[in-house]
Amino acid sequence: MSVLTETAAALVGGGKGILAADESVGTMSSRLEKAGVAPTEENRRAYRELLVLTPGLAGGVSGVIFCDETLRQRLSDDRPFPEAVQSLGILPGIKVDTGARPLAGSPGDTVTEGLDGLFPRLEEYISLGARFAKWRAVIAVDQSRPSAAAVRTNAHALARYASACHQAGLVPVVEPEVLMTGSHSMARCREVTAYVLHAVADELRSFGVDFAATVLKPNMVLPGASSGEHASPDAVARATVEVLIEQMPAELAGVAFLSGGQSPREATANLAAMQSLPSPWPLTFSFGRALVEPALAAWRGEADLVEAGQQALFERTAANAGVLTGAAVG
Ligand code: 13P
Repeated sequence: MSVLTETAAALVGGGKGILAADESVGTMSSRLEKAGVAPTEENRRAYRELLVLTPGLAGGVSGVIFCDETLRQRLSDDRPFPEAVQSLGILPGIKVDTGARPLAGSPGDTVTEGLDGLFPRLEEYISLGARFAKWRAVIAVDQSRPSAAAVRTNAHALARYASACHQAGLVPVVEPEVLMTGSHSMARCREVTAYVLHAVADELRSFGVDFAATVLKPNMVLPGASSGEHASPDAVARATVEVLIEQMPAELAGVAFLSGGQSPREATANLAAMQSLPSPWPLTFSFGRALVEPALAAWRGEADLVEAGQQALFERTAANAGVLTGAAVG
């Protein structure tokens, strides 16, 4: 087993999942503001410190994804974030895309950017302690979207990124997110998810990417948030696992789902329902909002509510790790 294969297996195995704490400076700032916290660099740092110092976090979390700003910041005790999580037995990761921008010629679609100068950035992130990376492609859904060009362009970028990660020595977390925003049906989400995963698997193959050293971070198959349709966890789990098995090779290291705007409880219930279905891969979580929203709401930037924030994160992490097969949460 290569080091990268081992790292990928560690990220998705052992009854643990990944904490996505990699909101960009802009997104994090607006989430802090909504929670009544001033959107300063120090408050973004303090919030991430609260998250990573949550007692017992390593019992349910194998890796934490940071953004560029946090990877370079230090805890109050002066240790850099990557070193602090590594000392807890948690793998440090880094979001390396630079965000989704409008795609010319495909109105309403986006392409995720960040390929220019990527390789030297990956080398620098490794020198700062990163062991894995993440790139998110964003696919919006309606009757006419996504265009074939948008899917192809995003899949191509994901494959170039994944290939560069392997060459540099990082495990790529490949995130093609079909958004749940919109009034589309669950059937339409399934159709678009299949189409997108097909394109991603195709591009990864054409770049010779080693699937065993790669983690897929997909959306779950869900009805659009404003569709009025409700899907039971069993229905979500069946549709999601079916489409993954249909489109992705068995060699993939594992699948770590994003939460995508589901409520924390919904995301956990859907993840739990998947565990009873046969699958060639570990199926785990790489949630952002579904893990950290309750923590941010409990903390509200108050020094004496740090423990309340940490308790909220611990509860969500334990709930998610607890539904994974073979989970052992400490
Ligand atoms: P959510 O779980 O909030 O969708 O975030 C996951 C993520 O990493 C988005 O890129």
